[in-house]
Amino acid sequence: MLSNPKAQFFQYLAQTSPEPMALEIASAKGNYLVDTQGKSYLDLIAGISVCNIGHQHPRVVQAIEAQLHQHLHVMVYGEVVQGIQSKYGQAIVEILPHSLDNVYFTNSGAEAIDAAMKLAKRVTGKFGFVAQSNAYHGSTQAPLSLMSDPYFTDPYKPLLGSVYFINQNDTDSLDYIPWNTIAGVVVELIQAEKGTTVATAEFLAALRKRCDEHCALLIFDEIQTGFGRTGAMFAFQHYNIVPDVLVLGKALGGGLPMGAMIAGKHLMQQLSYNPVLGHITTFGGHPLSAAAGNAALEVLQSEVDIEEVKRMGLLFKQLLTHPLIVSVDGVGLLLSVKLPSSEFVLKLIKLLLKQGIFTDWFLFAADRFRICPPLTISEVEVLNCCQVILAELNNIDKN
Ligand SMILES: Cc1ncc(COP(=O)(O)O)c(C=O)c1O
Repeated sequence: MLSNPKAQFFQYLAQTSPEPMALEIASAKGNYLVDTQGKSYLDLIAGISVCNIGHQHPRVVQAIEAQLHQHLHVMVYGEVVQGIQSKYGQAIVEILPHSLDNVYFTNSGAEAIDAAMKLAKRVTGKFGFVAQSNAYHGSTQAPLSLMSDPYFTDPYKPLLGSVYFINQNDTDSLDYIPWNTIAGVVVELIQAEKGTTVATAEFLAALRKRCDEHCALLIFDEIQTGFGRTGAMFAFQHYNIVPDVLVLGKALGGGLPMGAMIAGKHLMQQLSYNPVLGHITTFGGHPLSAAAGNAALEVLQSEVDIEEVKRMGLLFKQLLTHPLIVSVDGVGLLLSVKLPSSEFVLKLIKLLLKQGIFTDWFLFAADRFRICPPLTISEVEVLNCCQVILAELNNIDKN
């Protein structure tokens, strides 16, 4: 019998990589994680764009506690009225354009993408999808079908057929898509795991036009870019281009698991007949997640200056200049720093960990490290953090 949590982790929990970071977390508060030795780390990951208002915000903790004493799970999604779920649904619709007026809550981002793909098939009567190369939309089989890199998908084939991959911002490639078969175009406005690469307004406008012309749904995956991360509540607001379906996750649940697809009521209604129960989820929109998410949104609206997110992002870009830094890319606090190779990134991550800074690399960009802290990071924290990063880059060849 093992009693050490790290030994139990390696013995009893399924591993997804040969060398997990395995930092032993004791607690987390604000912009910091604390390990079991009492050492604290500035969090540059925010649980991969989840903890936008920091960890353990008292209003979120309070909302969870209050809900805890009301009820937990009572019934599968969509059959009984759960006050907190309805309230949060309204709060989300109120900050979106009029055409996005109906919310379907799920358990996760992948489930919400899967549901959005089903909705597109149901509404259009078509079956094909367009996705961007090196986009990430989740790891269950429908979102996995939207992943272009065969390294990740080959062992799991057959996946969904009829997925056409285009490069971000390559509008010319749209001429080669068999649009009469396309149900939906799934887009990450900023391809986070590709290394925070940004879509152009021309590209998104071209996608909007093709979808309108060919009756396909334009689906924006804002699972990572939502809730202030890019310096706007949602990234599509930078472009003024409204999707038919908006998919949310991560920060949506205020630190608890949750996803959602949001579309016009006239579209969403089609999940309720022929067949009924077009999408079924037991725990989707769990009341605890809804309470946490609703409180986190209130905190974001009342306590976080989203303009500051832009300013902090620019400050990182301005300060992080060094011969080993190839570029700093992204928008707001969804940033990646490109180094000469993945080896440099791995070395730097280890050095930064020793210095009390927690970061990682990107799924499709191993030569970049992540700067996606809680949006509550202060100017002093940015300055100190950049100083440490530059000092460690100076040391990197000696390690
Ligand atoms: C852009 C994007 N879409 C979808 C997902 C999948 O979300 P989940 O892990 O909640 O299934 C992720 C997760 O990292 C993501 O970054």
